[in-house]
Amino acid sequence: MNRNLALEFVRVTEMAAISSARLMGRGDEKAADQAAVDAMRAMLDSVECNATVVIGEGERDEAPMLYIGEPVGSGNGPELEIAVDPLEGTTVCATGGWNSISVMAIAEKGGLLHAPDTYMKKIAAGPKSKGVIDILETPKENLRRLAEVKKCRIQDLTAVILKRDRHEGLVEAVRASGARIQFIGDGDVAGALATCQADSGVDILFGTGGAPEGVIAAAALRCMGGEFQGIFQPRNEEEVIRAKEMGVEDISKVLHMDDLAKGNVMFCATGVTTGNLLKGVQFKSWGAITHSMVMRSTSGTIRYISAEHHFDKKPRY
Ligand code: FBP
Repeated sequence: MNRNLALEFVRVTEMAAISSARLMGRGDEKAADQAAVDAMRAMLDSVECNATVVIGEGERDEAPMLYIGEPVGSGNGPELEIAVDPLEGTTVCATGGWNSISVMAIAEKGGLLHAPDTYMKKIAAGPKSKGVIDILETPKENLRRLAEVKKCRIQDLTAVILKRDRHEGLVEAVRASGARIQFIGDGDVAGALATCQADSGVDILFGTGGAPEGVIAAAALRCMGGEFQGIFQPRNEEEVIRAKEMGVEDISKVLHMDDLAKGNVMFCATGVTTGNLLKGVQFKSWGAITHSMVMRSTSGTIRYISAEHHFDKKPRY
């Protein structure tokens, strides 16, 4: 994959972020998401590639744009697979909250797991946790191992956990271990990435969230050198059947980084509302400022891009 493509793709998340950020705090999740989808879909075709959406807005019959299997890109250039979440944290954006982003992961053909729209149990942590944490172990044991390699006390570690009733037992277990918890209302992709950022104040992510978000987070952590493991948590028999149709042979298997996102991977995200990971879109009299990150697994370089968009020169915005 040509490295310049990464800079082309960030233009896509920038556009989606600006479009949805205009609807921040308006209480309309659908409109905010639709704005991001429309903008992302329109921009994607300007990128010189022959890509297929493998994780997107849903099945063809339920999502007119960015549906699973939809061809995107100019049609010329490398054959790619893309996983998109035009607005990760729709409720956050609609309520003017913390941490919504526009995000996409890109891989060569066959590189991304075609994950069904079900749940996934996840664990994620930074580079030191590679070969150390294990999703099959208890939270306490994982925290003990992480504290050992980070040379700190368990009490100094912070776990990021989605605030959900289903996490009651998990929260009790983490509290019993002595570790601190940062709860997030939404957005476990940003939560997973934060575990790899030295100054985020977050060390490990535990809990169950969306499976598609798990694939996107794993792609990001491949670029950042972190560790991610997941196990599908289907809610009913229909989801098990759908997973099989999508090529998942063993639904209970532990999914490691290479099962989720393998080969050369790119990742880009733009902040919609401000969070630990990225600042949100700021509108000015002349346009808008966006903050994005772009990474490639090949080089491991993480670029933070702050861009000024002048609307008089970009009538599309
Ligand atoms: P959306 O942007 O699709 O609303 O997803 C937000 C999110 O918080 C994800 O980050 C997370 O993986 C998932 O929802 C958790 O699902 P649920 O809200 O059903 O617990």
